[in-house]
Amino acid sequence: MKPIKFKLTTLPTPLHPLKRLSVYLGGPEIWVKRDDLTDMAMGGNKTRKLEYLVADALSKGCDTLVTAGAIQSNHCRQTAAAANRAGLSCHLVLNGNPEAAPQGNLLLDTLFGPTIHWVTRDERDSRVNKLGEELKETGLKPYIIPVGGSNGMGAIGYVDAMLEVMKQAYALGTDFDLIIVASSSGGTQAGLQLGAILSGFPGTIMGISIDSGKVDGPIYREKMAKIAAESAAILGEPIRLEPENFNLNCDYLGQGYSVMGELERNAIHLAAEQEALLVGPVYTGRALGGLIDLIRNGVIGKNERILFWHTGDTPALFAYSSEL
Ligand SMILES: Cc1ncc(COP(=O)(O)O)c(C=O)c1O
Repeated sequence: MKPIKFKLTTLPTPLHPLKRLSVYLGGPEIWVKRDDLTDMAMGGNKTRKLEYLVADALSKGCDTLVTAGAIQSNHCRQTAAAANRAGLSCHLVLNGNPEAAPQGNLLLDTLFGPTIHWVTRDERDSRVNKLGEELKETGLKPYIIPVGGSNGMGAIGYVDAMLEVMKQAYALGTDFDLIIVASSSGGTQAGLQLGAILSGFPGTIMGISIDSGKVDGPIYREKMAKIAAESAAILGEPIRLEPENFNLNCDYLGQGYSVMGELERNAIHLAAEQEALLVGPVYTGRALGGLIDLIRNGVIGKNERILFWHTGDTPALFAYSSEL
């Protein structure tokens, strides 16, 4: 049975062509799905996942959301915002150090007012578990959300999103050969791939890996298959996806997670100059940079119709002013 949602955004998000960028690149028709415009706290892909996760937390009588991420985590910012919408407390476990003058997502975190616990990257997972226990001891009922909101429940937001875009495309008389999306903790791509089966999408969904390399790529594909299996089980759909069903491109990792290079910088400037479209420094700049490179190298043909799934990340731009 379909789980319930706690409404956090107006849907559908817009779908529109990027005509000037297509002409500039002399190539395929490029469209964009604007999940940067989910309308909670500067948007992004986590909002769709949080609609299901928050509803699940409320249905279980939980009163506190706990999650973790990097210092500029879009997921943590949206979780803190969702907690406020739902009247829940929120604890964020962030790897990094407090900043005297916070920028980007961290600045917004401070406005939403969660309790922030600072840790190193290695301490993060164990701190979340320990924190859950500590909160229970004080009488609270914590609901732990995995990094990126990526589990079977959260990914249902992206099963829905795939059905949504198929309807929109049909109404506009268009369709897509390839969907490009930034992929990192797996829930977005897992949900889209399951949604593709449920909606009969005949094209390819390619995740541009943001932080998993060629060596751990197979483990990452296994994780996505597991998330998709959990979502299918929740939805009561007898569908099984294998790791091989996930198309993951690990060619654009640059100098590593959240390190801005030429690829991201150029993509951010190009999208802004050609389309007044803002893409972010960590996820969507890298994914769009990958798409542009695939077009320039002829891997994507001139006659293909491409959908760039914009997953947000724009608030983080303000933390990268010196690199831009
Ligand atoms: C803006 C943005 N895009 C894409 C992703 C990747 O989505 P997922 O973690 O579901 O793979 C994230 C995850 O943190 C994100 O913040």
